[in-house]
Amino acid sequence: MERTLSIIKPDAVKKNVIGKIIDRFESNGLRIAAMKKLQLSEQDAGEFYAVHKDRPFFGELVEFMTSGPVVVMVLEGENAVAKNRELMGATNPKEAAPGTIRADFAESIDANAVHGSDSLENARIEIAFFFAQREIH
Ligand code: CMP
Repeated sequence: MERTLSIIKPDAVKKNVIGKIIDRFESNGLRIAAMKKLQLSEQDAGEFYAVHKDRPFFGELVEFMTSGPVVVMVLEGENAVAKNRELMGATNPKEAAPGTIRADFAESIDANAVHGSDSLENARIEIAFFFAQREIH
């Protein structure tokens, strides 16, 4: 059993498709072990995405992720990291396979609806960034 971190980004929250996205997870064998809605500060987003700080898109990424509330979740299930990434589809929605979350709900590589941890190690780090042990069930 694995755990991974999922973020429903500001674009999808604004579109009112939180429930539709969560249904993709629950209908495909992932369980919500923790969940909250919050607004990231610039400092939060900068810390969370620190690995990207030298990339040319870093400024836009922080601006976008702080543009409105997000929903953060811990998803739990067998192969949760890979399963979540399969359900999300490619980072660029134009390259995302039909039927994936990004193909169905995302507009652009920045406004791409969801974030998911890319490895088990990063999942542990990202989960600890947002949740205390007592918030995960
Ligand atoms: P995410 O999975 O949240 O991780 C970093 C984010 O940076 C990514 O999704 C994209 O929304 C955003 N991004 C913008 N431009 C790029 C790019 N050229 N390559 C990768 N990620 C990008």
